[in-house]
Amino acid sequence: TQVVPCDFVVFGGTGDLAMRKLLPALYLRDVDGQLPPAFRIVGVSRAGLDNDGYRGKVEAELGTHVPAAALSATAVASFLRRLHFVSADAAAGSGDWQKLVDLLAEAPDRTRVFYLSCAPRLYGPISRTLANSGLVSEQSRVVLEKPIGVDLQSARDINDQVGEVFAESQVFRIDHYLGKEAVQNLLVLRFANMLLEPLWNASAIDHVQITVAESLGAGQRAGYYDGSGALRDMVQNHLLQLLCLVAMEPPASVTDDGVRYEKLKVLRALQPVTGQLAATHTVRAQYEAGALDGRPVPGYRDELDGAESDTETFVALKAEVHNLRWRGVPFYLRTGKRLDARRSEIVVAFKPVPHSIWPGLEPTMTPNRLVIRLQPDEGVRLHMLAKQPGPGGIQLRPVNLGLNFADQIPDRIPDAYERLLMDVVRGNPTLFMRRDEVEAAWVWTESILHAWRDGHAPVHRYPAGSDGPTAAHTLIESDGRHWNEDNA
Ligand code: BG6
Repeated sequence: TQVVPCDFVVFGGTGDLAMRKLLPALYLRDVDGQLPPAFRIVGVSRAGLDNDGYRGKVEAELGTHVPAAALSATAVASFLRRLHFVSADAAAGSGDWQKLVDLLAEAPDRTRVFYLSCAPRLYGPISRTLANSGLVSEQSRVVLEKPIGVDLQSARDINDQVGEVFAESQVFRIDHYLGKEAVQNLLVLRFANMLLEPLWNASAIDHVQITVAESLGAGQRAGYYDGSGALRDMVQNHLLQLLCLVAMEPPASVTDDGVRYEKLKVLRALQPVTGQLAATHTVRAQYEAGALDGRPVPGYRDELDGAESDTETFVALKAEVHNLRWRGVPFYLRTGKRLDARRSEIVVAFKPVPHSIWPGLEPTMTPNRLVIRLQPDEGVRLHMLAKQPGPGGIQLRPVNLGLNFADQIPDRIPDAYERLLMDVVRGNPTLFMRRDEVEAAWVWTESILHAWRDGHAPVHRYPAGSDGPTAAHTLIESDGRHWNEDNA
């Protein structure tokens, strides 16, 4: 069904996120017939383009970022007609700002989405300019990209500043991991199947692993990335959100704020990783030159023109959720750039059976593992044991029960932003982060940042194209466990 007519304004309209994700997502929703004819998209940045210049740029980028099967000349042409461009400094309200005011004034009652795809320190100033120009109405929504701030205090400041203009119900803090099909499917897996939930606790589960590995480097975003690092860029938001969805109690319903309340409770139960604990519970590292798919790739510092940066491009850590369900079940998280492959997964490792009825076979009784693959090749696999066929007594053999979504559900898997952008237009906040959630995530993240600042964890190096630093293996292996290595 179509969404309501909307003016969708993207600040940072010529930036990397707009070009790679936001505009392609809007295009794909348009192709699916979800955007009504009156739906307009306005790019705002200081790029000094006119409407035609912007349309030309977007056309070229769509060609790169939209799956070829979804590209058609007519669809692109009709999408481009929705686009407008305003060359302005939005924080100052200068440049052609009045053009934006005039454009939006043409449809005063329409839903307005202000998507802030720019540096978080501009969220407050842009909100204020919008308010001063009379552009904010009850029908307005503002979307904030992560990371919101660089620590708890800056996050609070930004939330305060935005909160002076927009009510909390108008603020959509986006974490695109929550829009991924496989991530939403995690809720279905847990709460629509009887099999798992009764075992989903410390009595049956030994530990949980969450890996988000990327083969991309910091690349063109090095400017932003160097001030951020993997902990702020990925762990504070994406990985913690995944942890929350694995660990949370069942909400009574998804239709109200239930999911967000349950996630908040998990964040508040996270044991802070203060001081000395960071030495044993965290690993931070940075890639140096190496090779990927047989071609040499530069190290992180080379990409920064040799700057002496210690920004981490890899983090591994052990998180503990101190509540009744999870006490004693470590959550091992790791994420990094320039790793050997792009692979994201959640592994739920069960405990061994308490007793073997086959004396001597204990060493071959590998415990069950449930592997939820988020990308690529979304799917779920349960590692089990079966009998090795043959007459010679019982031998155990690992087997997989597998579900590959692409095989069983051949529909195109939409990009996370397609779902989330339409949720904003519809005003559905379930998959967005509430202020208290973001701040609770910062409280925990900041405990690590402080411990690192105080020198409790050295910065390791790893070659680009490897699976990360050895220390990440030591982190889990010193607990007698190992990272899941089944890439099937
Ligand atoms: C973004 C981070 O939020 O997520 C990037 O800022 C990262 O550094 C990206 O590359 C990963 O998203 P995805 O959807 O490609 O896994």
